[in-house]
Amino acid sequence: MIAYVTGAAGFVGSHLCDRLLRDGADVVGIDNLATGAVENLRDAQASSRFTFVQADVSEPWETWIADLSAALQRPAVMLHFASPASPVQYERLALQTMAVNAVGTMHAVAAAQASGATLLFASTSESYGDPHEHPQRETYWGNVNPVGIRSCYDESKRFGEAYVTTAVRKLGIDGRVVRIFNTYGPRMQAGDGRVIPNFCISALRGEPLTVYGDGSQTRSFCYVDDLVDGLVRFATRSGLAGRVVNIGNDGEYTIRQLAEITARLAGTELRLTRDALPPDDPTRRKPDVTLARELLDWQPTTPLETGLRRTLDYFRKG
Ligand SMILES: NC(=O)c1ccc[n+]([C@@H]2O[C@H](COP(=O)([O-])OP(=O)(O)OC[C@H]3O[C@@H](n4cnc5c(N)ncnc54)[C@H](O)[C@@H]3O)[C@@H](O)[C@H]2O)c1
Repeated sequence: MIAYVTGAAGFVGSHLCDRLLRDGADVVGIDNLATGAVENLRDAQASSRFTFVQADVSEPWETWIADLSAALQRPAVMLHFASPASPVQYERLALQTMAVNAVGTMHAVAAAQASGATLLFASTSESYGDPHEHPQRETYWGNVNPVGIRSCYDESKRFGEAYVTTAVRKLGIDGRVVRIFNTYGPRMQAGDGRVIPNFCISALRGEPLTVYGDGSQTRSFCYVDDLVDGLVRFATRSGLAGRVVNIGNDGEYTIRQLAEITARLAGTELRLTRDALPPDDPTRRKPDVTLARELLDWQPTTPLETGLRRTLDYFRKG
C-alpha cells in the first residue's frame, strides 16, 4: 500500500507515518515545516519506504506530487493532516491556516480524484465550537463564532468537511472526515500553548501550572497511539465513503484535575497560577465515540496516567 501523509512532520502526522511504515506501507510525507520539524521524522527516515517532500499543500497538488520519483505510483490512501493545530500557532498563521484547510483540501481532493486514493481529512472537535450538546455526537452541527479569534481554524475545518463530503457526492471520490478531539503525547511542541505540554514543562521545571479561568472547564485527552490506531482503521476500511467520525478519548477531566495528576506524576508539589479564559474557549468538551466503536471496532486503551508518564519522559529528555 502507498500512503501520502500531508503534515507529516507534525505531531500527529509523524506518528501516523511511523505506524504506516510499521504496517508495511510505502509512505510519502509532505510538509512545509510551518509548525512541524524534520526531527519528528527521524524514525520514519530510517526506512527506505519513506520519502519526504518539503512542499506547501496550499499550492496545486502537481507541485507536491510532480517532483516525486514515486509520482507514477498510485497512492491507496491520502491522509490530509497539514494544518497548524494549536491556538497559538493558528492565530500566528491565521491566513495560512485558512488556506491549507480550504485550498489545501481542494488540492487534496483533486489529488485523490486523479489517483483514486481514499482521502481522510483531519478535522477537529473545534467544528463543534462551544457545544450546546454534551457529549458531542457527529450529528451535532455545532456552535461556532464565524468571526471570532478561533474562526480561522474552526471555520476553515468546517469548510474542509463540507468540501470533502460534497466531493464524495459530486465527484464520486472516497473521502472521509475524522473529527479529532484533544490528543497528546511525545513530539508535541513545548511552546505551542496546548494544556498538556504547558503543564508538563512547568511541572518538570517546578514552576506553577497556569490555569485559565477557574480550571473547572473540562476536556478529554486521547493518547496519540490510540488516535493513530483509529485513523488507520478509518482510512483503510472499505465502505466508509462520506462518513464523518469522532475519534478521541471519552474520559472527562477538569483542567484542575489534569494539573493535579501532572504535578503528582512529575513528582512536584501542585502550585497554580490563574489567567483569564481565552475568548470562545469551550467550557465542556467530550466526544461520543459510539460510531467509531461500531464502524471501526476501535476504542481508546491508554489510561491518562500512562500517556502522561510517556509524555513527561519525552519532555524530560527534550
Ligand atoms: N493534536 C490534536 O489534538 C488535534 C486535534 C484536532 C485536530 N487535529 C488536526 O490534526 C492535524 C495535525 O495536527 P498536529 O497536532 O499534528 O499539528 P502540528 O502543527 O504538529 O502538525 C501540522 C503539520 O502540518 C504542516 N503544515 C501546515 N501547513 C502546511 C502547508 N500549507 N503545507 C504543508 N504542510 C503544512 C506543519 O508544518 C506541521 O508539520 C491538523 O490538521 C489538526 O487540525 C489535531
